[in-house]
Amino acid sequence: MKVAIAADHGGFALKEHLKSVLDELGVDYTDFGCHSEGSVDYPDYALPVAEAVARGEYDRGVLLCGTGLGMAIAANKVPGVRAVTVHDTFSARATRQHNDSNVLTMGGRVVGPGLAGDILRIWLQTPFEGGRHQRRVDKIASIERRWAGELREEAGDVACPNC
Ligand code: RB5
Repeated sequence: MKVAIAADHGGFALKEHLKSVLDELGVDYTDFGCHSEGSVDYPDYALPVAEAVARGEYDRGVLLCGTGLGMAIAANKVPGVRAVTVHDTFSARATRQHNDSNVLTMGGRVVGPGLAGDILRIWLQTPFEGGRHQRRVDKIASIERRWAGELREEAGDVACPNC
């Protein structure tokens, strides 16, 4: 399992803590920044992690900001990314079982390090259940293909055969 992790200034301290959880779990990770509490823009950190996960270079992404919300909004613009903001352990388990989420976001101003560590451990260790949930995840992918096709047509590009 390879994990890409990044944060803005609001999630920087939590990122540093969660790297120690990844070390403890023996999970291989790459830190995509930021590297201090100086103010930065969260989409600049969400995008490289989301693209790396979508391309299959990393199995999972972890994004931290003040709330986890902006990171999830930005990461979910990349087709193939299913980013979820999780601040409780029930949802951490359920979103892996049901949504096959591949990017986890949390807010450094929302959760403490202990709970965030538990959420990360559960989220990394819980498998996708497949079955009826696979059908639903496939429907999410078909929404992505439909809109990608419509945007290409709008831009005067060739019609998308899957639209
Ligand atoms: C930065 O102040 C804050 O807006 C950001 O960390 C995040 O919470 C955005 O969703």
